[in-house]
Order: sequence, then C-alpha cells, then structure tokens
Amino acid sequence: MQSNGSQGEVYYPSETIVANANIHDYDALHQEAVADLAGFWDRIAREEFEWFEEWETTLDDSEAPFYKWFVGAKTNIVHNALDRHMNTWRQNKVALIWEGEDGEVRTYTYRQLQREVNRFASVLRALGVVKGDRVTIYMGRIPEIIVAMLACAKLGAVHSVVYGGFSTEALRERIDDSHSKILVTADGAWLRGQTVNLKDIADEALMRCPGIQNVIVVRRTGQDVHMESGRDLWYHEMMNLPIATTDIQTEVMDAEDPLFILYTSGTTGKPKAILHTHGGYMVGTATTLKWVFDLKDTDVWWCAAAPGWITGHSYIVYAPLINGATSMMYEGAPTHPFPDRWWQIVEEHGVTVLYTAPTAIRGLMRFGETWPNRRDLSSLRLLGSVGEPINPEAWKWYYRVIGKEKAPIMDTWWQTETGNFMITPLPVTPLKPGSATKGFPGVVVDVVDEEGEPVPPNEEGYLVIKTPWPAMLRTIYGDPDRYVEAYWSRFPGWYMPGDSAKKDEDGYIWIIGRIDDVIKVSGYRLGTAEIESALVSHPDVTEAAVVGVPDELKGNVIHAFCILQQGKDPSRELEMEVKEHVGHEMGPIAKPAVVEFVDSLPKTRSGKIMRRVLRAQVMGEPVGDLSTLAD
Ligand code: WTA
Repeated sequence: MQSNGSQGEVYYPSETIVANANIHDYDALHQEAVADLAGFWDRIAREEFEWFEEWETTLDDSEAPFYKWFVGAKTNIVHNALDRHMNTWRQNKVALIWEGEDGEVRTYTYRQLQREVNRFASVLRALGVVKGDRVTIYMGRIPEIIVAMLACAKLGAVHSVVYGGFSTEALRERIDDSHSKILVTADGAWLRGQTVNLKDIADEALMRCPGIQNVIVVRRTGQDVHMESGRDLWYHEMMNLPIATTDIQTEVMDAEDPLFILYTSGTTGKPKAILHTHGGYMVGTATTLKWVFDLKDTDVWWCAAAPGWITGHSYIVYAPLINGATSMMYEGAPTHPFPDRWWQIVEEHGVTVLYTAPTAIRGLMRFGETWPNRRDLSSLRLLGSVGEPINPEAWKWYYRVIGKEKAPIMDTWWQTETGNFMITPLPVTPLKPGSATKGFPGVVVDVVDEEGEPVPPNEEGYLVIKTPWPAMLRTIYGDPDRYVEAYWSRFPGWYMPGDSAKKDEDGYIWIIGRIDDVIKVSGYRLGTAEIESALVSHPDVTEAAVVGVPDELKGNVIHAFCILQQGKDPSRELEMEVKEHVGHEMGPIAKPAVVEFVDSLPKTRSGKIMRRVLRAQVMGEPVGDLSTLAD
C-alpha cells in the first residue's frame, strides 16, 4: 500500500506482515526502553539468553564513555550461538546452507557446526591459543571462516578478521597492530571464476611482520601454494589428527571480556581496532535481528555481506546462530556465471529474507528485469539494505521487482562501532524510500548543529546518538584516548558517528553521508589515510591526497591526486601502474578510479591537506572559504 506523506511516498506494510511480526508496537517499546533503558535490556537479557552467572549491574556508566553492560555476568557467546541449541530440537536444524561459486553446496546442522567448531578450537588450543590471545583470520566466504571465528570465541581468544578483498599491506598492518600469533587463511578464494591468491598475499605480508607463529591454511581452490615448514599447517590435516577432539569446554567469559576486534577506517591515521565484547554484543545483535528481520524458525535468512566486515560478523555469524536461524551464505560474485545467480539461489534455497547493500542492487538493476523475472522469488517476505544511503530508484526497483511489492525493505543504518542496527524500521513501520526511519527501541537519535542544538526539520546537521546500547564498541583496542577523542569529544555525553543527516517533520532520519575522511566505495568503508599511504609507497609518488566522488553505481569512487618525484613525468602507463600498486598494497576495492598528477596540493597553514577544495574542484563546484589556505 502506498500514499503521499510529507516527504513524498509512504509505503505501509501489509496486514499479513503486521499480524505476523515479532514486534507489533514500536512506540510502546521505544517508550518503555527510553523510560528505563537498563530495565528494558535487563528484561531482554534474562528472557532470551543463557548466562552461567547473572549480573550485578545492567548498565554501569560510572566511567562513561567507557560504558559497561551486564557487569559481573558470566557467559560465552558461543554457548548461546551453538551449545544451548544441543538441548533442543534445533540441534538437527540446518544452521548454514553454503553455496560455492562453482555450485558446490554444503549444509551444516547446528550439531555438525558445533562439532566442527569444537574440533577446530581443539586444534587452536593444541597450538597454544589461550584466552585473550589474538588470532587473525583472512579468507573468503567459506564455512571455515565461521568455524574459525566461533572456535576463537569458544576459547576466549579474540578474533581479528581481515576482509579477504584486502591485500598485502592492509593485512600486514592489521596483523601487526593486533599482535596475533596465529593466522588462519586459505590457499585462495573463488571470485568470478578466477582465484584470488590469498596464501601468496599472506606470505608476502608475513615477510614484513614476524609475530605469527603458525599459519593454518584451508584448502579451497586447490592451487599450488608455498607451505613454510614449521610454520604452515593444512586445516584438513590438523582436523584429522587425534588432537582435533570434539570434547572441549566452552570458556567461561565475563560479559565484558573482549570477543573480537575489527579494524575500520577512522578520521585520520591508521585503521582503528574496534573492540566488541561477549555479553552486550550478543544481546544487541540477536535482539535487533529478531525484531527487525522478524526471524522465525521457518525462515531462510540470507545476509549477502562478507563475513570480514561488521555486517557479516553480526548478521552472518553471531545473531542468526544465537536466534537458531537457518542462514544462507554464497561464496562468489552476484553475476557469476549469469546475472541471475542471486535470484537462482533465492529460488533454489527458498530464501525468505534477503539483506544486502544498495550498490549490489544498483549493480543487478543494470541487467534489467528479465533476469530476476526468470526466477521464482515468491519465498521472499522481507528485504534489507545496509552500508550507504539507498537512492529511491534503487529502493523502488528492489521493492517492485525483487519483493513483488509485498516485502517491506528494512533500511538499516549502523556501523562497525555500533555492533548492531541503530536506525531502522521494524516490519510494521511505514516506510519512506531513502530513509532509515527511526532509532531502534531505546536508541535516541538526533540531528544537531555546531552547538549541539537540534536543527529544524529537513536541515542538515550532525547525527548524534544520545543513549548507550549493549552492543556498543567498548574502546579502540590499545588506544582508549583515541576512542574518547573520536566519538565522544565533539558533543560530550553523546556518541558521534561521523555522519551528517536530516530529520523530517515525522521524525524520520535521512542519512546524507560521512563528514570525515572516510569514503564509502560500493558500501565498503575506506580511509583516505590508508589509501594515501599506499599511494606514496609507490617509488615515484612523493605526496598524495584522495577524495570520494559520487558515482551512480558504487556510491562513491576514489579520485587520487599525486605529486611525482622530481624528474618523473606523468604518463598513462604511470597512472595505471600507480592504480595497480594501490590494488596490490590495499586491495582491489581501494584502487582509485582516477589518478591525477599535480604539482601541488591545497594545504592549510598547519600543513593539513584541504580535501574539501580538491573535491569541489573535481565536482566543478565553488571551492568556498579559502582563508585558511596556505598559498
Ligand atoms: C554508512 C556498515 C546510509 C554510514 C554497517 C555509516 C549507511 C557507515 C547505512 C558505517 C544506511 C551504513 N544508510 N548510510 N542504511 N548503513 N551507512 O562501519 O555512513 O562499514 O557511518 O558499517 O556506513 O560503515 P561500516
């Protein structure tokens, strides 16, 4: 159903959706939560999760912004994601349906997944991994990535997953910063019928960082790889040794003990290691998934993200398993071998809820309606979007062509830092294409000006979050000062995500984009600093600056400005070489669309590059106030 609201069209959920929703009354829940935030989460945590010991304090804000949740409680997220299901009928329910790009299909019941996790945890333990150790995981979208993450969590080790699309230098920096002693990787990954040489990339990264004691290699592509004797071990061989026993206890963890770190791009400098914990993250991710995507035992949930980003951590790995859901995971490219690959998967596996990014929708839209129309998509009952603002054309196409006008779209705004959905509709919420609607129950969001005053309706301002939530990041690992500085110093007492937004007359939030040096390319979060340092690591480049430029398909693309070494001349070949170099160092997603050679870069008197000026120049817009420009 559709009608016109203050901001164009409003789409209302059907009666069936409303009647079946896990949550019916958003307003009542939101009010309950805001009136007593700790009480609200206390109730949910008791009702929905198992704890080895209960907490003394639900929310401790005495050292804010270092908030603590469920203080004193003992649990382990793996107990709730796997172990507890063994006492119920769900032990034989399918937890994961995995399809390889080559068409291979594997399924794991909860019981099978638990056994695999237990055996791998035993292997890790035999290699000396203990509670608190860091383990880096670097591989493609294969079941073993989930197994590795859960095995770490089971032992109380902290996993640090590096996205399989990242490359040498990005991997090296993350291994180094985390002081990991084990790396779990694969020989390669399949993408568009080609292999990505993960092990070769890892070997090159490891030459530059000596801390890793063992590398465990999953055989996926079967390609030739170098195995360093004494260091490198095959996953399948280790899993066949007697040490790979299923008889292993799940470590008892404090609710506030670290679960994982995940690197993400910050305002300036190197990537930030965002730290999440066992207790709050478990409660937050599982509850948001259950309410927003209305998960039922009859669903086949498909989060099409990569496990190596927060979307995958929260909504491929942890939240679906805690909810006892059946998840779909697909290894490869959406268009391989044909543009209906995704729709074929929906049809064959009976996917009921699909969650993806606007860039993927725009990419598939290009191939026209014939491809999705060839397939039976009638199983879909809810759709989701994440990662960047969804443009209304893509929203409507997704709604009409994929959801057949019966599946509401949950446009979820959130971040690596927030751990779970923050601004999001529930299935019962009237929708406006392009708006993520309102705060999840208990999440108080606002849009404010420089002084922190709410801006009038439909005016741009800073997005802020005024209440804490259980799955919030606890700190930046190894750099607590930066945590305070980056998120809590601009408006003390409020969390500042770094996005700009508008709020309309109905209180709906419209995200505009990042206000810092983060660029979202195809929904992937990249930092200017890291790309620039990859650029200047090319021997011919002395200085570099990058900006994000709007792009119809990818949301943004990277435009790089480079100053060359004295005596080096700009050329088309050099431009290509520099792009390839960034791909080699950071990964293909970070490759600039354009490399422009310049003689100088606009800087402030204190030497800071004025990206705003560069961006205006590329866009052909007025450059604005130049009073701080050095010359
Ligand atoms: C952007 C991804 C508009 C936003 C889960 C945020 C969005 C950043 C949306 C976090 C959305 C995410 N609408 N923008 N629905 N979802 N963003 O850490 O700029 O990779 O700050 O987490 O993505 O990116 P991250």
